[in-house]
Amino acid sequence: MNKPLIAPSVLACDFANLQSEIEMLNESEADWIHIDIMDGVFVPNLSFGIPVVQAIKRHAKKPMDVHLMIQNPENYVEAFKEAGAKSISVHYEACNHLHRNLQQIKSLGCKAGVAINPHVNVQVLKDIITDIDVVCLMSVNPGFGGQKFIPNTYRKIEQLKEIITDSGTSTLIEVDGGVTKSNAKRLLKAGADVLVAGSFVFSSSSPKDTISSLKHVV
Ligand code: DX5
Ligand code: ZN
Repeated sequence: MNKPLIAPSVLACDFANLQSEIEMLNESEADWIHIDIMDGVFVPNLSFGIPVVQAIKRHAKKPMDVHLMIQNPENYVEAFKEAGAKSISVHYEACNHLHRNLQQIKSLGCKAGVAINPHVNVQVLKDIITDIDVVCLMSVNPGFGGQKFIPNTYRKIEQLKEIITDSGTSTLIEVDGGVTKSNAKRLLKAGADVLVAGSFVFSSSSPKDTISSLKHVV
């Protein structure tokens, strides 16, 4: 089993000390910085917008992985790229023209991601999988940090892995929501490549050690 990529979600960090939180991530074994953007329409919550992403970028030494939980993401992807995003994920459920949205993201030079909600069958991605760099499998209903992991995710990872292997692509599987040290190993065994973790990392007494424990869970 490969070592996972670890993407701490700053949604759970201390926003009053954003700079030191990002510096901690720079020094940690985190691979990506996961950034959750919520519009209060696609999900029943608001998070933060472009000025905060720009502020993170001023300190971040790791790639910023922007997860757009918003309607009409095509109107904003360019602004997020400008703000420093290295990968941008749009939601399958928010895109009527997913192929076009992915091409737009790629044309900006970013990794193109598709996030998919817990109730949606991964088979819907079969005809577009070769265009996706990262599938962000939601293992909670998007909108909030600190929710309970949905166990059906294991099965979805396995099914998605099969689609990826059959099509001969190198699409990464990212799992987002309720990830902890107790489910990380099983997630990796099922085929996950990237683990997003928010509250598990930031509410621990040593976020840096917690990131390291996820990185070396296998
Ligand atoms: C949920 C977000 C997640 C969230 C994860 O809508 O997409 O990235 O920050 O937080 P935890 O790890 O606390 O479930
Ligand atoms: Zn997320």
